[in-house]
Amino acid sequence: MKIVAVMGSYRKGKTIDRLVDRAIEGVKAARPDAQVEKLVLIDRQIEYCRNCGACRREDPAKPIAQCVIDDDMQEILPMMREADAYVFGGPIFEGTVNAVTKTFLERICWTLARAGRWPVKGCPEPRDPRKKRAVAILSSGLIVPLFRIFCDDATKLLKSTLRDSLSAKVVGTMYAGGVEKVGIERYLDRAFKLGQKLVRE
Ligand SMILES: Cc1cc2nc3c(=O)[nH]c(=O)nc-3n(C[C@H](O)[C@H](O)[C@H](O)COP(=O)(O)O)c2cc1C
Repeated sequence: MKIVAVMGSYRKGKTIDRLVDRAIEGVKAARPDAQVEKLVLIDRQIEYCRNCGACRREDPAKPIAQCVIDDDMQEILPMMREADAYVFGGPIFEGTVNAVTKTFLERICWTLARAGRWPVKGCPEPRDPRKKRAVAILSSGLIVPLFRIFCDDATKLLKSTLRDSLSAKVVGTMYAGGVEKVGIERYLDRAFKLGQKLVRE
Protein backbone atom coordinates (compact mmCIF):
# COMPACT_ATOMS: atom_id res chain seq x y z
CA MET A 1 0.00 0.00 0.00
CA LYS A 2 1.41 3.37 -1.04
CA ILE A 3 0.69 6.49 0.99
CA VAL A 4 1.66 10.06 0.20
CA ALA A 5 1.79 12.38 3.23
CA VAL A 6 1.60 16.00 2.10
CA MET A 7 3.16 18.48 4.54
CA GLY A 8 1.95 21.96 3.66
CA SER A 9 3.40 24.09 6.45
CA TYR A 10 6.19 26.60 5.90
CA ARG A 11 7.75 25.57 9.21
CA LYS A 12 9.59 22.31 9.55
CA GLY A 13 9.52 20.73 13.00
CA LYS A 14 6.47 22.72 14.05
CA THR A 15 2.75 21.92 14.32
CA ILE A 16 1.79 20.43 10.97
CA ASP A 17 5.14 18.76 10.40
CA ARG A 18 4.93 17.01 13.77
CA LEU A 19 1.28 16.04 13.38
CA VAL A 20 1.88 14.63 9.91
CA ASP A 21 4.84 12.66 11.27
CA ARG A 22 2.63 11.32 14.05
CA ALA A 23 -0.04 10.31 11.53
CA ILE A 24 2.67 8.49 9.55
CA GLU A 25 3.60 6.64 12.73
CA GLY A 26 -0.05 5.63 13.08
CA VAL A 27 -0.09 4.38 9.49
CA LYS A 28 3.01 2.29 10.09
CA ALA A 29 1.69 0.89 13.37
CA ALA A 30 -1.48 -0.30 11.63
CA ARG A 31 0.14 -1.35 8.35
CA PRO A 32 3.87 -2.07 8.76
CA ASP A 33 4.09 -2.92 5.06
CA ALA A 34 2.84 0.52 3.98
CA GLN A 35 5.24 2.56 1.86
CA VAL A 36 4.96 6.17 2.97
CA GLU A 37 6.37 9.05 0.96
CA LYS A 38 6.41 12.39 2.78
CA LEU A 39 6.03 15.32 0.43
CA VAL A 40 7.24 18.58 1.96
CA LEU A 41 5.76 21.18 -0.36
CA ILE A 42 8.16 24.01 0.49
CA ASP A 43 11.13 21.83 -0.49
CA ARG A 44 9.75 21.47 -4.00
CA GLN A 45 9.60 23.80 -6.94
CA ILE A 46 5.87 24.17 -7.48
CA GLU A 47 4.93 27.05 -9.77
CA TYR A 48 1.51 28.66 -9.97
CA CYS A 49 -1.05 27.18 -12.34
CA ARG A 50 -1.21 29.46 -15.41
CA ASN A 51 -4.76 28.53 -16.47
CA CYS A 52 -3.43 27.77 -19.96
CA GLY A 53 -6.04 25.02 -20.26
CA ALA A 54 -3.66 22.44 -21.76
CA CYS A 55 -4.45 19.85 -19.06
CA ARG A 56 -8.20 20.36 -19.48
CA ARG A 57 -7.93 19.73 -23.20
CA GLU A 58 -5.92 16.53 -22.73
CA ASP A 59 -7.26 13.13 -23.78
CA PRO A 60 -9.64 12.09 -20.95
CA ALA A 61 -8.37 8.51 -21.23
CA LYS A 62 -4.85 9.48 -20.15
CA PRO A 63 -4.04 8.64 -16.51
CA ILE A 64 -2.41 12.04 -16.00
CA ALA A 65 -2.89 15.15 -18.13
CA GLN A 66 0.35 16.73 -19.23
CA CYS A 67 1.14 20.07 -17.58
CA VAL A 68 3.13 22.57 -19.62
CA ILE A 69 5.12 23.76 -16.60
CA ASP A 70 8.46 22.03 -16.22
CA ASP A 71 8.83 21.90 -12.44
CA ASP A 72 8.72 19.29 -9.68
CA MET A 73 5.05 18.57 -10.34
CA GLN A 74 6.22 16.45 -13.29
CA GLU A 75 7.64 14.01 -10.74
CA ILE A 76 4.99 14.57 -8.06
CA LEU A 77 1.92 13.92 -10.24
CA PRO A 78 2.75 10.25 -10.94
CA MET A 79 3.47 9.81 -7.23
CA MET A 80 0.03 11.22 -6.39
CA ARG A 81 -1.67 9.13 -9.05
CA GLU A 82 -0.07 5.88 -7.89
CA ALA A 83 -0.80 6.36 -4.19
CA ASP A 84 -3.59 4.38 -2.54
CA ALA A 85 -4.20 6.85 0.28
CA TYR A 86 -3.17 10.30 1.46
CA VAL A 87 -2.42 12.28 4.58
CA PHE A 88 -2.93 15.99 3.96
CA GLY A 89 -1.62 18.46 6.52
CA GLY A 90 -1.73 22.24 6.32
CA PRO A 91 -2.01 25.27 8.57
CA ILE A 92 -5.05 27.53 8.51
CA PHE A 93 -4.19 30.96 7.13
CA GLU A 94 -6.97 33.53 6.99
CA GLY A 95 -9.51 30.81 7.52
CA THR A 96 -8.38 28.49 4.77
CA VAL A 97 -5.31 26.60 3.51
CA ASN A 98 -2.04 28.53 3.18
CA ALA A 99 -0.71 29.62 -0.18
CA VAL A 100 1.68 26.75 -0.89
CA THR A 101 -1.05 24.19 -0.20
CA LYS A 102 -3.53 26.07 -2.40
CA THR A 103 -0.94 26.33 -5.18
CA PHE A 104 -0.45 22.57 -4.97
CA LEU A 105 -4.21 21.89 -5.04
CA GLU A 106 -4.59 24.07 -8.14
CA ARG A 107 -1.87 22.10 -9.88
CA ILE A 108 -3.50 18.73 -9.21
CA CYS A 109 -7.00 20.04 -10.01
CA TRP A 110 -7.08 19.39 -13.78
CA THR A 111 -3.96 17.29 -14.26
CA LEU A 112 -5.42 14.42 -12.22
CA ALA A 113 -9.02 15.15 -13.18
CA ARG A 114 -10.90 15.40 -16.45
CA ALA A 115 -14.13 17.06 -17.44
CA GLY A 116 -17.04 15.09 -16.03
CA ARG A 117 -20.78 15.18 -16.57
CA TRP A 118 -22.17 15.53 -13.05
CA PRO A 119 -23.38 17.64 -11.25
CA VAL A 120 -22.53 20.17 -13.97
CA LYS A 121 -21.11 19.15 -17.36
CA GLY A 122 -17.41 20.02 -17.43
CA CYS A 123 -16.79 19.89 -13.67
CA PRO A 124 -13.72 17.86 -12.66
CA GLU A 125 -13.96 14.15 -12.02
CA PRO A 126 -10.96 11.95 -11.17
CA ARG A 127 -9.00 10.31 -13.95
CA ASP A 128 -8.21 7.48 -11.53
CA PRO A 129 -11.19 5.10 -11.26
CA ARG A 130 -9.93 3.57 -7.99
CA LYS A 131 -11.65 4.49 -4.74
CA LYS A 132 -9.07 5.93 -2.34
CA ARG A 133 -8.98 7.37 1.16
CA ALA A 134 -7.48 10.41 2.82
CA VAL A 135 -7.23 12.15 6.17
CA ALA A 136 -6.84 15.90 6.66
CA ILE A 137 -4.94 17.64 9.45
CA LEU A 138 -5.42 21.37 9.92
CA SER A 139 -3.95 23.65 12.55
CA SER A 140 -4.79 27.14 13.69
CA GLY A 141 -2.92 29.53 15.93
CA LEU A 142 -5.80 31.19 17.70
CA ILE A 143 -9.15 29.52 17.02
CA VAL A 144 -9.92 26.60 19.33
CA PRO A 145 -11.69 23.49 17.95
CA LEU A 146 -15.01 24.57 19.48
CA PHE A 147 -15.08 27.55 17.11
CA ARG A 148 -13.72 25.68 14.10
CA ILE A 149 -16.86 26.41 12.12
CA PHE A 150 -15.87 30.10 12.00
CA CYS A 151 -12.32 29.48 10.80
CA ASP A 152 -12.13 26.42 8.61
CA ASP A 153 -12.87 26.75 4.92
CA ALA A 154 -9.85 24.49 4.43
CA THR A 155 -11.54 21.18 5.23
CA LYS A 156 -14.30 21.79 2.67
CA LEU A 157 -11.75 22.71 0.00
CA LEU A 158 -9.60 19.67 0.75
CA LYS A 159 -12.59 17.33 0.72
CA SER A 160 -13.77 18.51 -2.68
CA THR A 161 -10.35 18.63 -4.35
CA LEU A 162 -9.34 15.23 -3.01
CA ARG A 163 -12.64 13.77 -4.17
CA ASP A 164 -12.61 15.36 -7.62
CA SER A 165 -8.92 15.06 -8.50
CA LEU A 166 -7.56 12.17 -6.45
CA SER A 167 -10.67 10.02 -6.14
CA ALA A 168 -10.10 10.09 -2.40
CA LYS A 169 -12.74 10.18 0.30
CA VAL A 170 -11.71 12.07 3.42
CA VAL A 171 -12.39 9.52 6.16
CA GLY A 172 -11.16 11.61 9.06
CA THR A 173 -10.14 15.15 9.87
CA MET A 174 -8.59 16.97 12.77
CA TYR A 175 -8.40 20.62 13.71
CA ALA A 176 -5.47 21.28 15.98
CA GLY A 177 -6.81 24.59 17.18
CA GLY A 178 -5.31 27.36 19.25
CA VAL A 179 -1.81 25.90 19.14
CA GLU A 180 -0.23 29.24 20.02
CA LYS A 181 -1.90 28.96 23.42
CA VAL A 182 -2.32 25.28 24.08
CA GLY A 183 0.62 23.76 22.19
CA ILE A 184 0.40 20.56 20.18
CA GLU A 185 1.06 17.75 22.65
CA ARG A 186 -2.67 17.22 23.21
CA TYR A 187 -3.17 16.64 19.46
CA LEU A 188 -0.45 14.07 18.86
CA ASP A 189 -2.50 11.08 19.92
CA ARG A 190 -5.39 12.07 17.64
CA ALA A 191 -3.00 12.41 14.70
CA PHE A 192 -1.65 8.92 15.42
CA LYS A 193 -5.18 7.50 15.47
CA LEU A 194 -6.05 9.28 12.22
CA GLY A 195 -3.08 7.58 10.59
CA GLN A 196 -4.30 4.22 11.86
CA LYS A 197 -7.82 4.91 10.65
CA LEU A 198 -6.58 5.80 7.19
CA VAL A 199 -5.20 2.34 6.50
CA ARG A 200 -7.61 0.16 8.46
CA GLU A 201 -10.11 -1.62 6.24
C1 LIG B 1 -0.66 34.90 7.38
C2 LIG B 1 -1.19 34.07 8.52
C3 LIG B 1 -2.55 33.91 8.62
C4 LIG B 1 -3.07 33.17 9.70
N1 LIG B 1 -4.42 33.03 9.83
C5 LIG B 1 -4.93 32.40 10.91
C6 LIG B 1 -6.35 32.31 11.09
O1 LIG B 1 -7.15 32.73 10.27
N2 LIG B 1 -6.81 31.72 12.24
C7 LIG B 1 -5.95 31.21 13.17
O2 LIG B 1 -6.41 30.71 14.19
N3 LIG B 1 -4.60 31.22 12.98
C8 LIG B 1 -4.07 31.81 11.87
N4 LIG B 1 -2.72 31.85 11.69
C9 LIG B 1 -1.85 31.08 12.59
C10 LIG B 1 -1.50 29.72 11.94
O3 LIG B 1 -2.69 28.97 11.72
C11 LIG B 1 -0.57 28.90 12.84
O4 LIG B 1 0.63 29.64 13.03
C12 LIG B 1 -0.29 27.55 12.21
O5 LIG B 1 -1.45 26.74 12.25
C13 LIG B 1 0.81 26.82 12.91
O6 LIG B 1 1.22 25.75 12.07
P1 LIG B 1 2.78 25.50 11.84
O7 LIG B 1 3.38 25.45 13.24
O8 LIG B 1 2.87 24.19 11.14
O9 LIG B 1 3.33 26.64 11.07
C14 LIG B 1 -2.19 32.56 10.65
C15 LIG B 1 -0.79 32.72 10.48
C16 LIG B 1 -0.30 33.46 9.44
C17 LIG B 1 1.19 33.61 9.30
